[in-house]
Amino acid sequence: MIGPRCLAGALWRRAGGQSHVKLFLRGGSQLSSSPTQRCWRAAYSSDSAPSLPTDNTTPRTVEINGKTYTTDAWFNVSSTVLALTSRKLHLQKDHPVAITRKIVESVFPGPTYKYYNEFDPVVSTYENFDSLGFPPDHPGRARSDTYYINKDTLLRTHTSAHEAELFRARESGGYLISADVYRRDEVDRSHYPVFHQMEGARVWDRNQVPNGDLAAAIREDLARLPKHNVRVEDPNPPFHPERNPLQAEHHTPEEAAAVAAHLKHSLELMVNEIFSRAKAAAAKQSPVPSPEQQQETEPLRVRWVEAYFPFTSPSWELEVFYQGDWLEVLGCGVSKQELHINAGRPSQIGWAFGIGLERIAMLLFQIPDIRLFWSRDERFLRQFRGVEDDLARLRPFVPFSRHPACYKDVSFWLRGTSAAGGNDRKGVGAADWHANDLMEVVRDVAGDCVENVRLVDEFMHPKTGRRSLCYRINYRSLEKTLTNAETNEMHDRVVSALVERLGVEIR
Ligand code: DAH
Repeated sequence: MIGPRCLAGALWRRAGGQSHVKLFLRGGSQLSSSPTQRCWRAAYSSDSAPSLPTDNTTPRTVEINGKTYTTDAWFNVSSTVLALTSRKLHLQKDHPVAITRKIVESVFPGPTYKYYNEFDPVVSTYENFDSLGFPPDHPGRARSDTYYINKDTLLRTHTSAHEAELFRARESGGYLISADVYRRDEVDRSHYPVFHQMEGARVWDRNQVPNGDLAAAIREDLARLPKHNVRVEDPNPPFHPERNPLQAEHHTPEEAAAVAAHLKHSLELMVNEIFSRAKAAAAKQSPVPSPEQQQETEPLRVRWVEAYFPFTSPSWELEVFYQGDWLEVLGCGVSKQELHINAGRPSQIGWAFGIGLERIAMLLFQIPDIRLFWSRDERFLRQFRGVEDDLARLRPFVPFSRHPACYKDVSFWLRGTSAAGGNDRKGVGAADWHANDLMEVVRDVAGDCVENVRLVDEFMHPKTGRRSLCYRINYRSLEKTLTNAETNEMHDRVVSALVERLGVEIR
């Protein structure tokens, strides 16, 4: 199984590994502010930095995309994140996320595939987790990793949250969903608390195929798909009794093999489309081809890797060899039959996949920092104008400037585990500490002016048993040079917020 939130957010680490991510209203005033304004406000305005909701500051209700929700003690969505629920980058004409969506859609044409691009990000915990067979103790359910509105309602963490409803609706033979998804996470150049995913699925109904021969019907559909010249490494059998089991009580080996073959060929066509476009764009940029680009005429290399997801079996990840590295691109598998049964469609069988769009867009357009996707700066946006309607105009992004970085450290004590810790004020103990809470406070106060945050030192006091942590915060605006005074002021506000909201004691 792959690292957490691969591709700026495609996938979950298997339960038991580290928490699932390596993958964002209260103030109406922030809703429409540009990132530049956010930086400015964070730096200068005394009332602009809304606090991470705690018991006494949690609003009783929040409004998201015109609907009002009642909060409870589970509420943990900061105003900055809430403000992003209305952005819908995947629907903004000529935005790189929207262009990437279009490229994926072009490989899954109608009327077989129907597109769903407008699903609301607020879903139930049932839809996001239970309907997909996530166990009750799955790490993805933790409040440290997921944004909750209340105990039963959250900001979807993946587009799979809509699978059950679309299996039930059965409006077409297949579908694609594109949507914004939300995960509490670390801060760096490839992780952002909101990103976009696409989900795809294809289903067949055993009561509707000629002679009831499902495997034959799926193989016929497979034969009708376009051919490709991708070099595919697929060392594993279609299923494996322990590692990647066939759902033997529901599917014959022939049926599952046929679904898997259709799935794999369809997704090979998709990555071939994406990566051929990425190579072509890179080649247009530099007239003298690099060694990598000389390989352009060589077919794309991909490999299938066994994986695990609670809602598919067998399951795989697809990796693509690009610029000298194997990249994890997507997760997929044969849908668990329980999903179809619970959707009232027991005679349906099919496959599903999920892919993170930002990471793909970063490759396609050579976009170096995930924060750029949220930029309203014309120097960013104008570079993609006209591409959605004419993909041949796709070119790598040309960075407009790289403003200087400035890092600042913050060191603090967590509450001791022993009474000798001597800290009787309200604060976090080591047991309650989660780095994502710190990340959230930093994002909320300094917004997109922070490029990354990392732990640089950690130690335990030998006598008191108290734990001390030191984090390095790298401040760099994408849009302007931050002055020392601005950075200092921002950092002071971050430090105060850490004390107020997380109860740490600054050293
Ligand atoms: N929802 C998964 C994630 O975000 C990705 C995924 C994996 C989607 C397998 C699928 C699938 O539909 O079959 O980590």
